[in-house]
Amino acid sequence: MRQPIIAGNWKMNNTIADTKVLLADLIPLVKGAKAECIVCVPYTNIQTAGELIKGTNIKLGAENVHWADKGAFTGEISADMLLELGVEYVIIGHSERRQFFGETDETVNKRSITCLAKGLKPIICVGESLEERQSGAYTAILEAQTEKALVGIDKSELGNLVIAYEPIWAIGTGVTATNQEANDTIAIIRNKIASLYCRNCADNVVRIQYGGSMNPKNVADLMAMPEIDGGLIGGASLNASDFSKVVKY
Ligand code: PGA
Repeated sequence: MRQPIIAGNWKMNNTIADTKVLLADLIPLVKGAKAECIVCVPYTNIQTAGELIKGTNIKLGAENVHWADKGAFTGEISADMLLELGVEYVIIGHSERRQFFGETDETVNKRSITCLAKGLKPIICVGESLEERQSGAYTAILEAQTEKALVGIDKSELGNLVIAYEPIWAIGTGVTATNQEANDTIAIIRNKIASLYCRNCADNVVRIQYGGSMNPKNVADLMAMPEIDGGLIGGASLNASDFSKVVKY
């Protein structure tokens, strides 16, 4: 079945010194968690974080990756560079990248394909704006984002990727989608995957997280919803106590 998966997204936070303190606190707190536990950290902290979490139940993630093997792409990082440091998961197409750094459905697809070809597991983010939610357009938008992200990805790879449903209006705002809204919207994404691949793939293979102000207070109720397989956690992942409570909901 679908193992719960909780990933921290540190975004542009934490120096190496901060990383050492946070992980030293976090490691004992998440020990024995039933959920798969991941920290996605800035590139500069990957090596330090990787060394610190070796032998623990915390897995290493990055926040982006380029699709090319190597070359003249100033400021970008390749899959091989991440693999060399022990990275397992990579966040792809976070709404902040779509909003501020020109990420498109096409580049999300290219990055995801490269991840899977290289043996990295993409956490592919989809989500609608407040306007799109209120107008009712969100269903079509999420279906299109999901379909475009998965172009050219074989059914056999579905267990190696994760989808994160993150309504943009709930990210970093303190506003969470209601449990029912999050659940029902994830069902829309799951049904799209069923139509693209197969019902069994959607129901038993692909894991779909909710992201957007998930925290120690709301995690248990969100995780009790049948469609929600985990969380992508921003703000609450920067505090060891809060993040461990989410991981051990
Ligand atoms: P948040 O961020 O938990 O701070 O809302 C989630 C995310 O952007 O991944």
